[in-house]
Amino acid sequence: MKILGIETSCDETAASVIEGKDENVKVLSNVVSSQIEIHKKYGGVVPEVAAREHVLNILPVVNEALEKAGLKSPLPHLAKGGKKNPSYPSLLKAASIDAIAVTTGPGLVTSLIVGIETARTLAYAWDVPTIVVNHIEGHIYANFIRELKIQNSKLKTQINFPALILTVSGGHNMLVLMKDHLKYNVIGETIDDAAGEAFDKAATMLGIGYPGGPIISKMASKYEKELSQSFKSQIPLPRPMLNSKDFHFSFSGLKTALLYKLKNDKNWKTRIPEYAYEFEQAVVDVLIHKTIKAAEKYKVKTIMLSGGVSANKKLREQMAETIKEKLPGVHYNQPDLKYTTDNAAMIATAGYFRARAKKFTPWQKLRVDPNLELR
Ligand code: KG4
Ligand code: ZN
Repeated sequence: MKILGIETSCDETAASVIEGKDENVKVLSNVVSSQIEIHKKYGGVVPEVAAREHVLNILPVVNEALEKAGLKSPLPHLAKGGKKNPSYPSLLKAASIDAIAVTTGPGLVTSLIVGIETARTLAYAWDVPTIVVNHIEGHIYANFIRELKIQNSKLKTQINFPALILTVSGGHNMLVLMKDHLKYNVIGETIDDAAGEAFDKAATMLGIGYPGGPIISKMASKYEKELSQSFKSQIPLPRPMLNSKDFHFSFSGLKTALLYKLKNDKNWKTRIPEYAYEFEQAVVDVLIHKTIKAAEKYKVKTIMLSGGVSANKKLREQMAETIKEKLPGVHYNQPDLKYTTDNAAMIATAGYFRARAKKFTPWQKLRVDPNLELR
């Protein structure tokens, strides 16, 4: 089954074609047009600007995804106007696309609408069903992308249920228990900022750019390489809610703690890498500690990471080490780096598993829901 995925919930315009068979998913194309350079100068995503960029980019991006997957039909009627390479997806039936999966929320309303209207139009023109995908569900399903030879169905994935997923990005921060495919139980979430949001705000305070996560991470690991084994930070930051009995998170206090440390340190500008290092470790410590506690309580068979922050090297490495040490019987999975931040391959993959469960939505009923809940 071939699925076209469309993702426009924030500042990436993305389209992808995947092929699914049984539990295996192969990515045939994965096109992401990022707006980071545009939003950088504002220090964050400007919704109106993001939506306009999606409008400009969506058709060329879908077209490229179809083309890279070898699915584009020739467009002689559009070429008439003298343009050699008209950037429009074929209005003829795209060869063997079985369904279109699209993110309908959560996210920015005006950005989501662009993806939804595109999916609606193509579904009507191609006469294929649409599939509603929750953006967070998409991030989770990045773990189910298996670049296997699709014919070799003996190679089974090692993802057994119940599974626990730590899903962390700029917009969300959750612990999700999955008893089976598409069955989600949110057992913990942030009561204020998400970890990615905290990274972004900390980087703004330190004046080192946007988005903060990758920059802080790079700076911290460079600093770490120069440290001795016995190093103890001189600027310790708190580990918020580390010992609370629930599985909720809070990162806004950590951000405020950093702000006060900087205010009281006349020489902070000379110690930026050390602050980055300590901030990153504080976030990672909390994320790992809570995940392990929840995995023990719910006796899960698999732990997975997802979301933009799952690109973080320290989180990936330290999570793997801690699970090996504390829960050796539990399988650990992390998405390939290219599927951690926003992309449409993850949306198409979640769409494929929804299609297997016959969860289609007629294009007439596609609705944007900026606060769509995971269920
Ligand atoms: O999933 P994503 O692309 O968009 C949302 O759904 O929010 O995640 C973006 C977030 C940003 O906050 C960014 O700073 C963070 O993921 N991020 C990272 C890293 N790469 C991206 N955070 C920590 N370390 C990274 N290497
Ligand atoms: Zn995301």
